[in-house]
Amino acid sequence: MADVLRVGLAGLGTVGGGVIRVLAANRDLIARRAGRSIEIVAVSARDRNRDRGLDLSGFAWIDDTTALASHPDVDVVVELIGGSDGPALTLARETLAAGKGLVTANKAMIAHHGLELARAAETARAPLAFEAAVAGGIPVIKGLRDGAAANVIERVYGILNGTCNFILSAMEASGRDFGDVLAEAQALGYAEADPAFDIDGIDAAHKLSILASVAFGTQPAFAGVAVQGIREVIAADIAEAAALGYRVRLVGVAEVGAGGLFQRIHPHLVPTGHPLAHVTGALNAVVAHGNFVGPLFFQGAGAGEGPTASAVVADLIDIARGEFGPAYAMPADALDQAPPQDSADRRCRAYLRFTVMDRVGVLAEIATAMRDAGVSIESLIQRGTTASGGAMVAIVTHEGPERAVAAALERLRGSQSVVGQPMWMHILS
Ligand code: NDP
Ligand code: HSE
Repeated sequence: MADVLRVGLAGLGTVGGGVIRVLAANRDLIARRAGRSIEIVAVSARDRNRDRGLDLSGFAWIDDTTALASHPDVDVVVELIGGSDGPALTLARETLAAGKGLVTANKAMIAHHGLELARAAETARAPLAFEAAVAGGIPVIKGLRDGAAANVIERVYGILNGTCNFILSAMEASGRDFGDVLAEAQALGYAEADPAFDIDGIDAAHKLSILASVAFGTQPAFAGVAVQGIREVIAADIAEAAALGYRVRLVGVAEVGAGGLFQRIHPHLVPTGHPLAHVTGALNAVVAHGNFVGPLFFQGAGAGEGPTASAVVADLIDIARGEFGPAYAMPADALDQAPPQDSADRRCRAYLRFTVMDRVGVLAEIATAMRDAGVSIESLIQRGTTASGGAMVAIVTHEGPERAVAAALERLRGSQSVVGQPMWMHILS
């Protein structure tokens, strides 16, 4: 083992810059913990001339990012470019093919190609580590893969996108407009290069599929995640939720069992007494239930330069120590292939919000659709007149089959009384 772990760093944006700063600021402590120094020797990004507020003079600049994989002075490549395919994936494949270690924060790439990369790492007997890919600075991959390795875990859920949580909690605290808050999240470095990945729930779905695989021992199955983001959540939903004793959060839920693998990202009403209701700003949190350890609750910063770089450097320290096992806690070929579970077979309590024409019979029409579909209403609120002359109806249902709620909404499709699409949020239990 060389005295120094030599790192090639691809990507010098929010996270890449953070890695340089963490390794410089905590150099001696990291060397003592790792048992040897961790040094960046070469870096690569798109634009060599960009002023990044970083001193890059001690590192070799590599124009062709892929060349980091074969660079003779590089032991481990850190990929912080982003994107599920393209240069990030090429670099990842080449690095592992060259028998070198790969550390990445790229959840899109791991969600789509993680199994292939894990197999390549096993073939090359090289480390593959992606702690930073899920929940930023929270050591949740390590917590589940190593700390909870003795347990059967059948449910894992949580808040997995810092940008959405920042937006929802700012809307809740100040009633500010969605667009304003998104711009702030982008300025703080939380959002993806294309923020649609955040607000449409795709980023959280990437993370949930990785988390489910590590927790359950099942093959990653991103395509099986049912996804709905927060675009349709309006200030009135947040206010109604508060009045009913809930907060709105984008929550990912994964469960495995006899019915297969269930994975969903959806805006949820979280009871104010639940710990997830108190996760604010760019914080993330993950809850897992192990059959011997019981419930585990992980919370911390889910995005941003420092927390994400902290997780990347933790992976480098493991590699420097020679401590790395299979990326998904077991060899890729040992992972089960669980069939996706149909959500219609599940039971739920639902929050439904309709914008309706303020006229005689509207409430009766909605209530009839619910009754005919077999949905039992727990509470119903109608509020005033909207700017367009309509009214808002918010309903909370008793627990019942999801297919009944879907059927009720289907009955109301095309109704002259309902304006636009109803909003459906699940109530977290
Ligand atoms: P940024 O957009 O800030 O940085 C991306 C970096 O990649 C830039 O330095 C850019 O170069 C470089 N790059 C882009 N395209 C290429 C290319 N074709 N060839 C070489 N270099 C390229 O992204 P982040 O730092 O925010 O994110 C990096 C990764 O970390 C992503 O996978 C992201 O999902 C993940 N992540 C991010 C978190 C966050 O809070 N920001 C949290 C957890 C994970 P240049 O600067 O020259 O344009
Ligand atoms: N865009 C991501 C988020 C970054 O907001 O959570 C961290 O993965």
